[in-house]
Amino acid sequence: MGNSKSELYDQLAAQLSSLLAGERDLTANAANLSALIFHALPDLNWAGAYFKKDGELVLGPFQGKPACVRIRIGEGVCGASAATCETVIVPNVHEFPGHIACDNASNSEIVVPLVKDSQLIGVLDLDSPSFARFDEKDALGLERLAKIFVESVESDNPADAIYLKQPDV
Ligand code: SME
Repeated sequence: MGNSKSELYDQLAAQLSSLLAGERDLTANAANLSALIFHALPDLNWAGAYFKKDGELVLGPFQGKPACVRIRIGEGVCGASAATCETVIVPNVHEFPGHIACDNASNSEIVVPLVKDSQLIGVLDLDSPSFARFDEKDALGLERLAKIFVESVESDNPADAIYLKQPDV
């Protein structure tokens, strides 16, 4: 995909900004984030969010097959990203210690932390049926989309305060 991959993320960033403009609801914006990614990026079988709640990750809006609901911080690829607050690229999920298999079709995965006001609020998870589907360009592009998403949600929104006003653990 080369340059065209960067161009695709440029387009996605612009689309996401207009899609989320004026809306601050966490669930609605995560739903549109997942749908945009799932339908715009090639070769995915799952895209969605997990949100940090009561010290673990809980399934949020997603596109793809039903997935495991709760993931402990430090567990699986999502938990690894949450524990370090860093993007994790896994070229072959079958070689990742503790990988949690939700869809047997998944062979590679990327997880990007969702950080707002220096606090982890969740992760963005993408799975692919292809091995080594994700690279540094995807990491940069998805981190950009994650930033647009976290900036769209507001911690003064009472409905989402459980996710956005968390004590440090
Ligand atoms: N594979 C993930 C679990 C979530 S699903 O892929 C949707 C993990 O190991 O954390």
